Amino acid sequence: MQKITAAITAVGKYLPDYVLTNKELETMVDTNDEWIVTRTGIKERRILKGEGKGTSYMAIRAAKDLIKKSNINPKDIELVIVATATPDMQAASTSAFVASQIGATEAFSFDQIAACSSFLFGMSTAARYIESGKYKKVLLIGADKNSSMIDYTDRATCIIFGDGAGAVLFEPNHENLGLQDELLKSDGVGREFLHVKAGGSILPASIETVTNKLHYVYQDGKTVFKYAVSNMADVSDKILKRNKLEKKDVNWLAAHQANKRIIDATARRMDLSEDKVMLNIQKYGNTTSATLPLLLNDYEEQLKKGDNIIFAAFGGGFTWGAIYFKWAYNYNKNK
Ligand code: UT7
Repeated sequence: MQKITAAITAVGKYLPDYVLTNKELETMVDTNDEWIVTRTGIKERRILKGEGKGTSYMAIRAAKDLIKKSNINPKDIELVIVATATPDMQAASTSAFVASQIGATEAFSFDQIAACSSFLFGMSTAARYIESGKYKKVLLIGADKNSSMIDYTDRATCIIFGDGAGAVLFEPNHENLGLQDELLKSDGVGREFLHVKAGGSILPASIETVTNKLHYVYQDGKTVFKYAVSNMADVSDKILKRNKLEKKDVNWLAAHQANKRIIDATARRMDLSEDKVMLNIQKYGNTTSATLPLLLNDYEEQLKKGDNIIFAAFGGGFTWGAIYFKWAYNYNKNK
């Protein structure tokens, strides 16, 4: 039987209009543009404004962008996965709402929640459904409204995060393109260093939790930074070695956009030159589950069929990993 691999065949994105610049942040907290740029690489980020708009608002628009560009019938989509750390609501699956709104009425759906690694782990999940031979179209969306859990008086976190969404379509491939190998990890040691304390089952919402600002992201940045640098670089290096890839074989590094210094450290460990490193953190900040699909959208025109891409991510939990992927198509602007 012919081997089925899981390839990405289309991408789409949505970014909110509102641009929160470093200059504006200077008026909100004790920070400055120079510190933010040198410590993180971020110049601006997008924020979703407007009452009643959650993560699904952006996920729906990213999916519709993909559907329009690729000209697929949404009824042919069999599975919709929404990778997110900021679901619309507790209990109700965000993906079910998204699937209905985009007309994927024949699909089943679920959310994939693994902090900043949600999309990377979602790629692995989507690939398994395709490789099984049973599913032909799996839509994976990475979307986060980080501004819904950020304290804009806390300079340690508010300068980093932004909102956005990206979508990719997985389809079967018979030329051995798509997902080749993956190395995925987690370690609960990380929970104390990056979390939202209240609103979950341990500490449900109460007047006290709101008064004490426990619904916001808490991050011990220095410690997370240390783990992120060593772990993301480690899995990226390992996946190269076990696939016998040399630096000349790697066309692109698509790493989670949390801090440019973490991305640079990973690229250095892989001995990759700057021109092979996808980067959009300067425009969007850390959009959690959306960073990887937004990179694919921004670089789509430069990607060539057969390009070797190393995806890497690190996030809360801790969760992290790397995926070795072969790109499946050349960009066609008339499509
Ligand atoms: O996406 C999921 C995973 N998350 C990450 O990967 C994020 C990992 N962490 C980071 O990216 C970095 O740790 C941060 C960007 C959050 C912080 O950068 P840092 O270089 O680790 O800064 P720091 O916390 O060590 O602080 C250095 C100095 C401190 O001042 P002193 O004590 O040296 O006088 C801070 O008070 O910078 C100060 N500082 C700031 N100054 C201006 C901290 N935040 C700011 C700020 N503006 N926003």
